[in-house]
Amino acid sequence: MNYRHSFHAGNFADLVKHALVLWLLKTRHAAGPVMVLDTHAGAGLYDLTGDAARSREAEAGVARLMAAEARPPLIEALASEVAALNPDSQVRFYPGSPVLIARALRADDHYVGFELREEVAGLLRESLRDFPGARGEIGDGYDLVRAEARQARGALVLIDPPFERPDDYLRAAETAGAIVNADPDAIVAVWTPLKDLETFDGFLRRLAAATTAPTLIAEARLRPLTDPMKMNGCAMVIVNPPAGTDAAATEICGWVADTLGDAGARAEVWRA
Ligand SMILES: C[S@@+](CC[C@H](N)C(=O)[O-])C[C@H]1O[C@@H](n2cnc3c(N)ncnc32)[C@H](O)[C@@H]1O
Repeated sequence: MNYRHSFHAGNFADLVKHALVLWLLKTRHAAGPVMVLDTHAGAGLYDLTGDAARSREAEAGVARLMAAEARPPLIEALASEVAALNPDSQVRFYPGSPVLIARALRADDHYVGFELREEVAGLLRESLRDFPGARGEIGDGYDLVRAEARQARGALVLIDPPFERPDDYLRAAETAGAIVNADPDAIVAVWTPLKDLETFDGFLRRLAAATTAPTLIAEARLRPLTDPMKMNGCAMVIVNPPAGTDAAATEICGWVADTLGDAGARAEVWRA
């Protein structure tokens, strides 16, 4: 496995994923204490002066987010989180999903993040040290999340694989299906890259075979999907979307496509 999220932290795809996760968590809060499960947690917190400076993806993502003059509310919510980690106004630190979620937990909420790579899991645990409701576990998130989800009714689950293994799409679809079939109150959000439509449609077919639960697809396309070797956009596929998800996803994906995309960029939010 070669994937290192430190090269991609703070890119446009992180902005879509994290703004939507923040909104889902806030919405979930209305129903009482929340358990958030993160199958592919990563390091938790990223110093953008490292690998991200070399890839320049954060420069095209979070740096432009923080420089933007007009930000709609759900984008502003993410910008506020980034600003809180960077008090001297330079954008040096970017929160991964673990720290972003841990910072938003209330007293009775919990977060468990799973990470396969031992050295990254060490960073994950270190990043969560000051958050009593949050913990990092070493191991295969697809396997470990089901038991945790069974114990916590109505969990909010994020599935965010690197998609470097051929079976990631299949395992993501099967895991999402198994969770919502066992607990109709669970919400599962799967992040995927958008390279070509065949791959994405294949994932949606696998998901439809795994569950009949309602599914919303939120796409932010930065350019037409003509080059399958590039990440031309990204999608969040939300199973059991709560009321208001269509509008929230439209606001978030629309801002990212309009502000960070090329000519021909567009957002699409639809139901499978
Ligand atoms: C896209 S990154 C996660 C980013 C993180 N969710 C965030 O938003 O900040 C994917 C992570 O999953 C880890 N990983 C890969 N396969 C895994 C598996 N089967 N179970 C748990 N973690 C895995 C990788 O090492 C990598 O750190």
